[in-house]
Amino acid sequence: MRIPVKHPWTLPKRLLGTFVILASIGRIQSEQKSSKQPNIVVIVADDLGWNDVSFHGADQIPTPNIDALAYNGVILNRHYVLPTCTPSRTAFFTGRYPIRTGMQGKPLSVGEPRGIPLNVRLLPEHLRNLGYRTRLVGKWHVGYYTNEHTPTRRGFESFYGHYSGYISYFNYTISKNNHTGFDLHQDTASTLEMRRNSNYATDVFTEEAVKVIENHDATEPLYLHLAHPAPHSSEAKEVVEVRNMSEVNSRFGYIENINRRKFAGMMMALDQSVGRIVKALGDANMLDNSIIVFMADNGAQTEGFLENYGSNYPLRGLKFTHYDGGVRGVACIYSPLIKNNSRVSEQLLHVTDWLPTFYSLAGGDVNDLGDIDGLDQWSAISLAENSARESLLINIDDAVNLRGVVSGKFKLIEGAADLYGNYYGDTGNNNSYPEYNITEILESDAGLAITSIGNSLLTETKILNLRSASIVRCNNFTDFANCSDTCLFNLQNDPCETTDVSADYPEIFISLSKMIEIFESELVPQTNTDVDPASYPEKFNGFWMPWVASDSSTIIATSSLIGLINILLHIFSLIFFS
Ligand SMILES: *[C@@H]1O[C@H](CO)[C@@H](O)[C@H](O)[C@H]1NC(C)=O
Ligand SMILES: *[C@@H]1O[C@H](CO)[C@@H](O)[C@H](O)[C@H]1NC(C)=O
Ligand SMILES: *[C@@H]1O[C@H](CO)[C@@H](O)[C@H](O)[C@H]1NC(C)=O
Ligand SMILES: *[C@@H]1O[C@H](CO)[C@@H](O)[C@H](O)[C@H]1NC(C)=O
Ligand SMILES: *[C@@H]1O[C@H](CO)[C@@H](O)[C@H](O)[C@H]1NC(C)=O
Ligand SMILES: *[C@@H]1O[C@H](CO)[C@@H](O)[C@H](O)[C@H]1NC(C)=O
Ligand SMILES: *[C@@H]1O[C@H](CO)[C@@H](O)[C@H](O)[C@H]1NC(C)=O
Ligand SMILES: *[C@@H]1O[C@H](CO)[C@@H](O)[C@H](O)[C@H]1NC(C)=O
Repeated sequence: MRIPVKHPWTLPKRLLGTFVILASIGRIQSEQKSSKQPNIVVIVADDLGWNDVSFHGADQIPTPNIDALAYNGVILNRHYVLPTCTPSRTAFFTGRYPIRTGMQGKPLSVGEPRGIPLNVRLLPEHLRNLGYRTRLVGKWHVGYYTNEHTPTRRGFESFYGHYSGYISYFNYTISKNNHTGFDLHQDTASTLEMRRNSNYATDVFTEEAVKVIENHDATEPLYLHLAHPAPHSSEAKEVVEVRNMSEVNSRFGYIENINRRKFAGMMMALDQSVGRIVKALGDANMLDNSIIVFMADNGAQTEGFLENYGSNYPLRGLKFTHYDGGVRGVACIYSPLIKNNSRVSEQLLHVTDWLPTFYSLAGGDVNDLGDIDGLDQWSAISLAENSARESLLINIDDAVNLRGVVSGKFKLIEGAADLYGNYYGDTGNNNSYPEYNITEILESDAGLAITSIGNSLLTETKILNLRSASIVRCNNFTDFANCSDTCLFNLQNDPCETTDVSADYPEIFISLSKMIEIFESELVPQTNTDVDPASYPEKFNGFWMPWVASDSSTIIATSSLIGLINILLHIFSLIFFS
């Protein structure tokens, strides 16, 4: 069998891409402002597990608004993400595998002088060039050490949120090496306003996002990126922080494990947030021309470092691993623009695909994006056509020697896979739990908003069928293969990755190993570095702030020099190879 491999960085195409980008700069600002450009709203949940939404079959934590979005839209049941935050968000914003930019390693630490390189254009920059208003509310986590790396210098017109991996939910702090500081910012400034109110972070960001929608001029297209810190744990004494414990006890008293019960409280607030966003879009008459994506950045960290008691059950592994529990992320998309809504998609999708998909929906030509790894998946999503991709790189983490690819129904993982290589988390079902309440879904804020634009096909039977179709059904995994070295899994027969089938498919094993080798040969070594004591918040009025003077002149000089060299090489290749 021949495994299709993409060679995205072959020289002539790369040069051509640079040339096209340079040539198109002139017309960027004058790009059409068609009223047909859809609003794009992306809601990202942090460390959300497969089994933490009720549309995947668990009754334990009802998520009626998220479920309403999922059942009215498309349940993206094979949406692959990176195993941790920073790589996943890098992939989303760049449309490239993080190995292209050295961002594939451990998530960025607060105070670490690193970020997505400035010569890479991010999704908000692309959309802004097509006439979008671009707003970020919530988490960033792809670098802030110079001003040039912060969201408002990278395509977002406004930013209200935090630079680093997580914050405590009531006082918005994060600590490193015993240095604690606030991480809440408005545009480029620190903001003290919210410190006084000490509202629950999930509500703070929801209110800010609702304000963005209410104040938006509906004649212009909006890209709103709402990246909640929830349901990530925090470093407060109670690592799982809820808005109101007595509310959580009265609603989820049936969950015996107190930490899991609190996790349910975090999910309740997140679900309400989704409802309020969809309702706000409806109230602003924007919903009928909107695309809403809800997605996890990676799997849950059920236990261990920064544990949040989320559950990836029945998928194997956790955040940080290349098992599906780490990288098969919860995702759904809702839009009245989707032609074939209310279905469960088993199409292979990757987090890098959103950049070209959105760019094309916004009226851009994906050829202008240069060499990216993402593929335009709109016909797959809207018309249920075949996925544009047959394979994907999970990641190559050169520091911990972990590599993985998916091709068709097969997945190969190599190296160090024993870490968190078990099955964790709550099964989510017990006869003592309240029965799944379909009325609650239909009458949720999201459900009602979608019904009111006349775009819902849902009936009770349809909901139950979709829910049943989205459940992952496993082989018996009480006896599973250890993968200290390599494992080949057949995800179609064995979605829970119990059995190494490399001996049964030697040719596939070899071709997938080759695929990894090719990616490895293209890898930019990871840029992870030590925390810089110069970043400590004592120096910045108690806030974590950009602390390295930006040397934009050098950066611009370097990138235009590279541009010039590329043009010369291009001319050279035209002369000598045509
Ligand atoms: C933080 O403080 C504690 C208690 O004072 C100390 O034991 C620990 O070594 C400190 N950690 C660092 C990274 O400085
Ligand atoms: C933030 O709140 C947590 C508890 O929720 C507490 O442990 C921590 O000390 C607080 N930090 C500051 C700077 O107030
Ligand atoms: C917390 O929830 C309880 C029970 O639902 C409610 O009575 C109380 O008013 C809430 N407290 C706050 C501060 O909202
Ligand atoms: C929607 O897609 C499914 C395949 O997933 C197909 O069976 C069905 O006919 C399509 N429906 C419409 C209305 O195109
Ligand atoms: C179901 O809940 C009961 C009572 O709350 C508990 O004793 C039992 O262990 C649970 N069963 C499972 C499979 O979690
Ligand atoms: C289901 O949800 C609806 C709407 O929230 C509520 O009125 C009803 O009491 C719920 N049913 C059950 C059995 O809890
Ligand atoms: C699963 O496997 C275990 C151990 O091999 C066995 O004891 C158990 O009965 C099996 N369960 C099912 C449902 O097959
Ligand atoms: C896998 O490894 C773990 C720990 O290293 C061990 O406890 C377990 O028995 C092993 N399982 C199998 C099937 O070899």
